[in-house]
Amino acid sequence: MRHLGDREARLQGIYWVEDAGPCCGVYVLDGGQTLIDAGNMYGLVDEIRDLVPISELERVILTHCHFDHVGGLAEIYQAANPDLYMHRITRGYLDFHRAPFPEFFAALEKAGKIKYLGDGDVLPGENEMQVFYTPGHTAGDICIFIPGSGTLASGDLVLGADHPYGLVLSKPDEVCGGRMKDRIDSLKRLLKLDVRSLLPGHGSPVIENGYDQIKIQLLETFRIMHGKDSPEPWVKMAEVLADGIDIDGAIDCCERALKIEKDCGEARRILKEIQSPQS
Ligand SMILES: [Fe+2]
Ligand SMILES: [Fe+2]
Repeated sequence: MRHLGDREARLQGIYWVEDAGPCCGVYVLDGGQTLIDAGNMYGLVDEIRDLVPISELERVILTHCHFDHVGGLAEIYQAANPDLYMHRITRGYLDFHRAPFPEFFAALEKAGKIKYLGDGDVLPGENEMQVFYTPGHTAGDICIFIPGSGTLASGDLVLGADHPYGLVLSKPDEVCGGRMKDRIDSLKRLLKLDVRSLLPGHGSPVIENGYDQIKIQLLETFRIMHGKDSPEPWVKMAEVLADGIDIDGAIDCCERALKIEKDCGEARRILKEIQSPQS
């Protein structure tokens, strides 16, 4: 477990348990009271015990339903009895996991331990944690934003820059309701937040310039849709950024589109609109 506060003072008290194999990264906050995702790794409880008694764990927040974020709950509930937070849509997909998990979640529900989160909710804890409903990877994705430090826990919607299979792991899972259009809308929404640090579900935390990593993920999404050699991904990015997010960035994207295709009418149209916004 690594203390991110050792790298950046704003992240004091946030710990990262590195992802490994079919297991997501897990984040420990609030002095061991809060986990974001549960991973899928035997030994997580021992890692937490190195920091605080496991009995102090009060809540686990699931960013989405995938097993690499959920499987570690089995070990956690042998040692502690936290509340389990998730979007209501995620609850339905959890039943896709094979036995004994449907019974496991049904028992938690019966005991009143499952709490549902929706867009705009604020979670208890030492730091204000805002909930953003951000479907796209699955239909029930949520991101957690801590405005005090500009920190976003992004689940699998935005992954760390260093993950070798980032685009594969973050793509829409249609079986669980993931949709490309939702993914684009959610990424656009996240670009409007003042994200400095990013805590992704896979890959290393992005300590500074988390906003840039969201932008890269959106551009890569447009490249998958429209092709890497086409001006279209840059035009699409310019449209997003010109919508009150980053005018200089929008101009840069238009110029890149024009480098690929000097007569790109869409890029010229966006540049014209930026330069004469009243017309
Ligand atoms: Fe994942
Ligand atoms: Fe996932």
